[in-house]
Amino acid sequence: MGLFGLWWNGSAVGFLLLVPGILGWGKEGHYAVCKIAEGFLSEDALAAVKELLPESAGGELAAVCSWPDEIRFHYHWSSALHYVDTPDFLCNYNYSRDCHDSAGHKGRCVTAAIYNYTMQLLTYQDSISKSKYNLTEALLFLSHFIGDVHQPLHVGFTGDLGGNTIIVRWYRRKTNLHHVWDNMIIESAVKTMYSEDLGLMIEAIQRNITDAWFNDMSSLQICTNNRTTVCPNEYASESIRLACKFAYRNATPGSTLNDDYFLSRLPVVEKRLAQSGVRLAATLNHIFSSEPKIAEA
Ligand code: ADE
Ligand code: ZN
Ligand code: ZN
Repeated sequence: MGLFGLWWNGSAVGFLLLVPGILGWGKEGHYAVCKIAEGFLSEDALAAVKELLPESAGGELAAVCSWPDEIRFHYHWSSALHYVDTPDFLCNYNYSRDCHDSAGHKGRCVTAAIYNYTMQLLTYQDSISKSKYNLTEALLFLSHFIGDVHQPLHVGFTGDLGGNTIIVRWYRRKTNLHHVWDNMIIESAVKTMYSEDLGLMIEAIQRNITDAWFNDMSSLQICTNNRTTVCPNEYASESIRLACKFAYRNATPGSTLNDDYFLSRLPVVEKRLAQSGVRLAATLNHIFSSEPKIAEA
């Protein structure tokens, strides 16, 4: 069945989206993550975010969440901070083994970047003017990287650059597996199920967060050890498991991915967008809370 067939299957698709339990992302994915997060921000966090946002954001975090991708090749040092890959065919993640750039420099990966920018933003309490960091950039990097670490193929295998070198067809279009997960699954969903309106897809995910999906709250848990509010290592471990189970499976070089792949992977993408949005909000709420912070391990 081609994409056209999906129009006929509208009710089946609606059903799929309601089944309980069941994208770095491209521009639309990052917009969705930050839009979802905005809806869960506390008053303190909202005030801090508004103060830190650049003019160009028009007061909306979601408007600037793709900025780190736009400057990725200009700020060359930031390129390796968008992902963390594992040795080929290993479906688990280990910080000390995996967090390095392609030259082997330790600590240059997405999970380390999340710790680093969280730590920088915690100096906001000391007053912005005294902080030695650029907290506007820190906010945009943190918001973007929490999205990235939830994209399963941003924690993929080193040998194929997280699916970037796996050439596949998405329906009739030639592309690579990484791009399918960053962009195509979301774009196809928006086009065929949400009348080309990303806002409608975001609203559907928001509804799922507040009801059916997250009856099982454990999948939304911010950290297993709930003493801490940022635990990128857990998010990375989830991602590589999903990469093995859903992204790489049945997507060998030269394969054509169509409805079977699309309909079975879309719920994974939607849930990862939901998790990143909720977790980003919880992280920002923690960072900008006016309550004194207890020291964290
Ligand atoms: N470059 C190398 N590995 C990558 C990954 N997993 N995601 C994005 N870019 C990459
Ligand atoms: Zn990507
Ligand atoms: Zn990115």
